Amino acid sequence: MKRILFLIFSISISCVNAQKFQGLAETPPMGWNSWNTFATNINEQLVKDITDKFIELGLKDAGYEYIVLDDGWMARERDANGNLIADPKKFPSGMKALADYIHNKGLKFGLYNCAGSKTCAGYPGSRGYEYQDARSYALWDVDYLKYDWCNTEKLNAEGAYMTMRDALKQAGRPIVFSICEWGDNEPWQWATNVGHSWRVTGDIINCWDCEIGHGSWSSWGVWKIINMRKDIRKVAGPGHWNDFDMMEVGNGMTNAEDRSHFAMWSMLASPLIMGNDLRKASKETIKTLSNKEVIAINQDKLGIQALRFSNENNIEIWLKPLKNDSWAMTFINMNNEPVNIDFDWQKYHIGDDLNGRMMDLKNNIYSIRDLFNHQDLRSTLESLQATIGVHDVLMIKIDKI
Ligand code: GLA
Repeated sequence: MKRILFLIFSISISCVNAQKFQGLAETPPMGWNSWNTFATNINEQLVKDITDKFIELGLKDAGYEYIVLDDGWMARERDANGNLIADPKKFPSGMKALADYIHNKGLKFGLYNCAGSKTCAGYPGSRGYEYQDARSYALWDVDYLKYDWCNTEKLNAEGAYMTMRDALKQAGRPIVFSICEWGDNEPWQWATNVGHSWRVTGDIINCWDCEIGHGSWSSWGVWKIINMRKDIRKVAGPGHWNDFDMMEVGNGMTNAEDRSHFAMWSMLASPLIMGNDLRKASKETIKTLSNKEVIAINQDKLGIQALRFSNENNIEIWLKPLKNDSWAMTFINMNNEPVNIDFDWQKYHIGDDLNGRMMDLKNNIYSIRDLFNHQDLRSTLESLQATIGVHDVLMIKIDKI
């Protein structure tokens, strides 16, 4: 009897911990991450400068929140007690001081680690130290953990991420858990109750439609990533997002491609994590990244990921249902020359079968707003006509009048 009671007690204890923090990332997380521009070349002064710039450029006002240090923040070895420590040369004041700096600016602080024995860049990973590391993050006031998948031979992905989820829960500080497993073990099948987002592909790279091979893995251009995972949209929603990777806006593509990239990350309800050097960002880059009308589509409370409505003549049309029976629609020109579009609303049946939403164009009139030009266009009573530049986008919001 005693044994049975003990068993029931143990099961109920593990059930208490066996959940992620609820109420976090109810809309896709927004922030900045060091990796795409700086790789492991990060340090305290750089992160403080980026944080100051983040505020100065109005990105906090636009809704961005997290400053995340990716790989390379740690010392090469743990301390004598097995604790993770910040690299004393790069971060002489330590992680708690940096968290305080970021919190004092009204922002949140994120760190990176890895489920394997080492991170992808060879720093100490969390395997076997999950509870100890989670306690360190809580002590340092970390708000967001990106958790990678290098050096994980023979580990079961679901189990490894559940272990870290439970460790974070037990440490007691609400931390957004960002799973970075590249889609290898299809986290969209099992991670809804484990993390708040999960990467769906290998690493992004700053080009439009390329694949760069590195032997056993590839980096992917923006357009490749968008079309790789369009069939898993049903698993995205408040608190659990498909993560299409940190953005490359401002990192070398054309302004048109940057606009399309940003529009699509918003349509796909992906986390919006900037990856450029904010200290050197052009006006055009900041204009794109801080476009509040586009951000509002990403942050829509329904949290529905867009579907590809059509793909004819190299013009892709994507559709995202929004709250209040509104819709976002994005036309992307994949051609290498500008195109004129002429879209007659009455010819189409526009809806999202996944959740039974329909645009009732017979009985309603909808207004149309161009979200990049900040202009009201004609209503759905007339056909939509526009010229779209090379790899550029027309992104509209459609509201019932
Ligand atoms: C992996 C991740 C990247 C980045 C690097 C760091 O490749 O997918 O986003 O975190 O590791 O080493």
